Amino acid sequence: MKEININLIPGDGIGIDVIHEGKKTLEALAKLDGGLHFDFHTLPWSCEYYLTHGVMMPDDGLKILADCDAILLGAVGFPGVPDAISARDLLFPIRLEFQQYVNMRPIKLLPGLDSPLKSTHIDFVVVRENSEGEYCGRGRIENDGTPQKTVIQEAVFTQNGTERIMRYAYEYARKTGAKSVISATKSNALNYSMVFWDAVQQQVEKDFPDIQSRKMHIDALTGYFIMQPEKIEVVVASNLFGDILTDLGSAMLGSIGISPSGNINPTGKYPSMFEPIHGSAPDIAGKGIANPLGTLWACEMMLRQLHLTSQADLLMSGICEVLQARKIRTPDIGGTATTSEMTDAIISAMFRNAK
Ligand code: IPM
Ligand code: MG
Repeated sequence: MKEININLIPGDGIGIDVIHEGKKTLEALAKLDGGLHFDFHTLPWSCEYYLTHGVMMPDDGLKILADCDAILLGAVGFPGVPDAISARDLLFPIRLEFQQYVNMRPIKLLPGLDSPLKSTHIDFVVVRENSEGEYCGRGRIENDGTPQKTVIQEAVFTQNGTERIMRYAYEYARKTGAKSVISATKSNALNYSMVFWDAVQQQVEKDFPDIQSRKMHIDALTGYFIMQPEKIEVVVASNLFGDILTDLGSAMLGSIGISPSGNINPTGKYPSMFEPIHGSAPDIAGKGIANPLGTLWACEMMLRQLHLTSQADLLMSGICEVLQARKIRTPDIGGTATTSEMTDAIISAMFRNAK
């Protein structure tokens, strides 16, 4: 029996709804396989936990979390707890401590999804830097309480951090047969960070003469996403730019509830963490209408990373089949189905396809 240990952090809001579906789907895959068993360990760390305990996770939280093959996270954030706390005290420490410096975010229009755009060929990946940049958390407040109050938010770009994400993107392009990499920049305005970012790209691209390199200013790139998404294959972006681009990317597929995200520790020294890119959506939490796709797709990425390729293929085939049938889908993508009805339809399709 192959044992896989998964730490679940449902978090807040619809995070709880969708992780329930992810767990159910993984259990179904294990049942189908017979020789596979997922051992789930659910951690209650969330904003609710914060309101009771005063912290997002216990002191030894990262130690507890490290002991697994992968982490599956729903979403964090809830009214009453400042967003900066839920991110800074839970999400970012995990990304940092486990050196998940790559955030892989595929943006792919699966058959049966309706893009609000004219183009029907949307299939690219955003390789987001996940450990530094604009999210470094450094800054200061000067002359507080005076009209001269000045708030400084810093961004940190290191040679090592920038080079490794660039290389990862180019290597990913080469590995997957993509012919081009676009680097998201803003070196016309950000005279230190993005000028450096461009210089590192120029240095790295020399090692990849087979890949066509481009840089685009982030403003122009957002327009390009909408106007010519079919030309995009791999995008490499800083932490903040990658964050913004991927909400746009998921919306290009018809809903923010669709896209997954893999916080990857490329060395395998620490567990990677998979999550939908959407937030906790408190307005629809517990109503049973959240789209489970972002999480199920995150499960698919997780399975692939764990080398459970046939399970990943089966899950993806179930997702595609249900989308293409156009019958059972959640309201955000034009249907009336509940979260669990959609998952159950995907699980049924997996059972059919496995035979
Ligand atoms: C994401 C989210 C987070 C981020 C928030 C919750 C801090 O938007 O994973 O895309 O910006 O990284
Ligand atoms: Mg985001």
